[in-house]
Amino acid sequence: MANNNENLNKASRAKKDEFYTQLVDIECELRHYKSFFKGKTVFCNCDDPYESNFVKYFAMNFNALGLKKLIATSYVSSPIVFTQLSFYQEKEKQYIKRDGCRPYLIELTEIRDENGDGAIDIGDFEKTIKKHPPKYLKGDGDFRSPECIELLKQADVVVTNPPFSLFREFIELLEKHGKKYIVIGNVNAITYKEVFPLIMQNRLWLGASIHSGDREFRVPDSYPLEAAGCRTDKSGIKFIRVKGVRWFTNVDYSARHDDLILYKHYSPNEYPVYDNYDAVEVNKTSEIPCDYNGTMGVPITFMDRYNPDQFEIVGATESEGKGFSNGLWNEASKVAQPLVKGERKYKRIFIKRRAANGNPT
Ligand SMILES: C[S@@+](CC[C@H](N)C(=O)[O-])C[C@H]1O[C@@H](n2cnc3c(N)ncnc32)[C@H](O)[C@@H]1O
Repeated sequence: MANNNENLNKASRAKKDEFYTQLVDIECELRHYKSFFKGKTVFCNCDDPYESNFVKYFAMNFNALGLKKLIATSYVSSPIVFTQLSFYQEKEKQYIKRDGCRPYLIELTEIRDENGDGAIDIGDFEKTIKKHPPKYLKGDGDFRSPECIELLKQADVVVTNPPFSLFREFIELLEKHGKKYIVIGNVNAITYKEVFPLIMQNRLWLGASIHSGDREFRVPDSYPLEAAGCRTDKSGIKFIRVKGVRWFTNVDYSARHDDLILYKHYSPNEYPVYDNYDAVEVNKTSEIPCDYNGTMGVPITFMDRYNPDQFEIVGATESEGKGFSNGLWNEASKVAQPLVKGERKYKRIFIKRRAANGNPT
């Protein structure tokens, strides 16, 4: 029985790992970092070069961004989904038929205007890739494998949507190698023990473009259609809507330094002190009082509006991680979830206004 459950969990994890990012979502985020990419080596390390819209984005914008190099690697057990690169499906289908899902690598250092039409488009990418076809990897393409780590060492920045089930390990590895990254994850990852300390130290933050709602991802043909939020388009391609998606990055962008406009004033009635934390409860980010200088507990979606020049993050509720509250928790209460007059609240992040933003120095 335990084995059956384990297998089911594995299957469900694997399913969640096969969500393919749409080009429009990549474009909306990456336009905030355009000048950053100049002279950089970009590594898409969970990306089949024939399928990934990340690879497509960087190939088509190679010259406009002034990239030095684009590296992409695929993973052995990734199912094959041919995205919009339909013009070389036939050739590549044969290639894959011959060799199975053997993972491969592309390394591009230039994309020329092969068509001579004055613009770099997908046709130029196709011709470039024909001139410099992918090489096989020796191993399975796991981003943790020695071979992929050697490629990571060459890279300045990793940009991808990694497998959801390995998000913690993914961030840990990039941090260990001191890499810049712009990657997709779930909003709940904010309070992972591998992530939250970095957020507190202002070494990791949320990206610019996704702050609410859900996003549509392509899923493999084998994905069960009855899954909630699943649809099939006219050409039979399946998509699923996923809630709580966010970009996680350590690359700065200007919009994150815009102040959150506050309009409410503090009153002890409206902002009660927690029973078990030394802070006041603010149950909506938009209702943070403009004139309170003490510690406030806010929902984790505060991170969507967080300007590090305006606020300092001082901790989170102990329910998210032992020691996360940095002494704000009254341990004697024995309840880690925040309580207001005995009522349990959802997890909270603790914040304080910065000195330049109203706090006495
Ligand atoms: C969420 S999907 C995203 C795919 C692609 N990056 C995109 O955004 O369209 C994650 C991909 O990582 C692959 N993958 C799973 N485990 C991996 C691992 N250990 N190393 C590298 N890739 C892995 C999956 O097969 C899948 O193709």
